[in-house]
Amino acid sequence: MEIVLDKLSKTFGTQRAVDDVSFTAGVGITGFLGPNGAGKSTTMRMITGFLEPTSGSIQIDGKPAWPTNPEQRSMIGYLPEHNPLYTQMFIREYLGFIAGVHKLKQPKQAIERVVELVGLAPELGKQIGALSKGYRQRVGLAQALIHDPPILILDEPTSGLDPNQLSEIREVIRKMGESKVVLLSTHIMQEVQALCKRVLIINKGKLVADDPIERLQSRLAGEVIVHLNCQRSINASMINQIKGVERSVVNGNRARLSVNAKAEIRPILAQLCIDQNWGLLELRQEETSVEDAFQAITQQRITA
Ligand SMILES: Nc1ncnc2c1ncn2[C@@H]1O[C@H](COP(=O)(O)OP(=O)(O)O)[C@@H](O)[C@H]1O
Ligand SMILES: [Mg+2]
Repeated sequence: MEIVLDKLSKTFGTQRAVDDVSFTAGVGITGFLGPNGAGKSTTMRMITGFLEPTSGSIQIDGKPAWPTNPEQRSMIGYLPEHNPLYTQMFIREYLGFIAGVHKLKQPKQAIERVVELVGLAPELGKQIGALSKGYRQRVGLAQALIHDPPILILDEPTSGLDPNQLSEIREVIRKMGESKVVLLSTHIMQEVQALCKRVLIINKGKLVADDPIERLQSRLAGEVIVHLNCQRSINASMINQIKGVERSVVNGNRARLSVNAKAEIRPILAQLCIDQNWGLLELRQEETSVEDAFQAITQQRITA
């Protein structure tokens, strides 16, 4: 099961809101990051069949998603941005209505299942309008999940939640990522770090990064910092001869190296320490945050 976007574009008037975007998302959670107005929601609305692409194609499970067909739509669960809900309806009534839209054969069981899954039981008797933001998001997730779709498109599902609600909703999303294709848009970096195995970054309609989370971090500004700590003195000129070392500060048995992010020098460095009998105590690369990488990429200091 996968979603494949090929050269997808959407133009509003003269604006290319989504510009030649291609990616493939399989089972697991793919983070879809970008500043406001980048084109995340527009892309998701095209995937879910609510907005017709101007050009390019979307394939869902190997078949074209446009023109839309009911069979494919039923494979997708969608939580739109701002989570539109019928506030007059009671939770059970609303989920019953959605189960009806999907023509589920056993609506009662389906409702029980999602109520349990997203933790709606404590508030089940209430009208949607009376719910807190966190519970409204649970109702939104419940409607997206009621037909147990293999694909989940979640457009900023955690925006505006308090820290407790946040961790609960994230837990549900994490669970879903174990077996489903989940595309998760967000601008919260910790969320991406906590949940996603892969990150797409879109900026001004263009895809500027498509990386495993670890790689994104190491791409920051092209340089990483490596710390070395040994029992005996480190020979600075030997360190500086290693390919990829841009600068180094060697101080007796300690060294701090600025290294080209594309070079992985740690195995070479470790071998050098052994060969030279320096007594390796510590070899550590500084973590860069996804937030740093995101800012660097969207401000175009580095290119994809
Ligand atoms: N229906 C529309 N008509 C005109 N412009 C739109 C429409 N929908 C979105 N846009 C524009 O497209 C760009 C991308 O919007 P959107 O996909 O909502 O961004 P994001 O979800 O990343 O914040 C924005 O500049 C937005 O104003
Ligand atoms: Mg949006």
